[in-house]
Amino acid sequence: MTPERRLAVFLSTTLAAGCGTGPLDDVACTAVPLGDACPSPEVAAELLIGTRTCESPVREVTNIGAFVSSSDVIYTGYGGSNPYEPGDTGFSEPMTECCYEASYKEHEGEDCVIGRALRDGGAPRTATVTRTGQPSPAGPEIEALSADQRACLADRWETDALYEHASIFAFERLADELDALGAPEDLVRRARRAAADEAHHAEDAFAIASALRGSRVVAGPMPPVAPRRVDLVTVAVESLRDGYIGETIAVARAAAQLRDATDPAVRAALIRVIRDESEHAALGLDVARWAVGNEEGARAALASAFANAALPSAGDGEGPAFGAPHPARVAAVLRAAWSSVVAPTVHELLAA
Ligand SMILES: [Fe+2]
Ligand SMILES: [Fe+2]
Repeated sequence: MTPERRLAVFLSTTLAAGCGTGPLDDVACTAVPLGDACPSPEVAAELLIGTRTCESPVREVTNIGAFVSSSDVIYTGYGGSNPYEPGDTGFSEPMTECCYEASYKEHEGEDCVIGRALRDGGAPRTATVTRTGQPSPAGPEIEALSADQRACLADRWETDALYEHASIFAFERLADELDALGAPEDLVRRARRAAADEAHHAEDAFAIASALRGSRVVAGPMPPVAPRRVDLVTVAVESLRDGYIGETIAVARAAAQLRDATDPAVRAALIRVIRDESEHAALGLDVARWAVGNEEGARAALASAFANAALPSAGDGEGPAFGAPHPARVAAVLRAAWSSVVAPTVHELLAA
């Protein structure tokens, strides 16, 4: 299956899942020796804290409820696989698992990525928000929200807007660096087009944030980013980590948001993000592929970047109608994207 087909299948499955929350937001499972009684939920919550894989950052169980039979749940954690499968347990005796209704909070891992970051010496950079005090443009229909809900949602959309805004500069720099490295013209052209897409995403996100805030918010000046020597391995690593993985996770998160969103302005912005970021993910993968074919050290650098990549936090669930669904629902979608789209595609790239 091609990477594009993988992403298309993932999107159709995710969006077809509809808005129902079902009986469980997620489940948390822990291993016990076969034949032992399952621990109480309180004890299980302690056992579940602190798990980390490359697919899933450190997690905290914020709410744990009733025991549920593992045959009643489709386990979605740990990149989509059951961590206690026979033969892969690391335990010295036969184990079974006990599962509970749960909500998770995911903490940022070593290198959590969403969208194409503008990196300065490795660290992502953004502008800060300027609150103009001018009237906000037309945007979400927010009458039903309390003041606190509006403020939380405005914070969230401002953060997204700043990352979208930083991506404009990241793609402009990518286009210049690809040009300097002698990359195929098609890659340079797609990078410039992506910068223009990100300008639209930033504009949409600032418009939504402004409506929620009650006055217009815009990006302040972008802080200067230190000039750097153009280097194909750095471009390749950023194109895999921020370009392919980060943009695919951005698509997955937008799909999770869209599934629950009802506000027309929010839905329109998310649909545009899904369409454009899918293309940006494909561009990131193509740049990484080109680098592997042209630079001896690229493959090992990409393998190392993949090993250190982790899912970003799922955010707060402050208003599903306006793009902030329950974090457990977002986390489940991000994990599914990782296991069904990102991991197989990167493994193929590294094995080619
Ligand atoms: Fe974007
Ligand atoms: Fe993007």
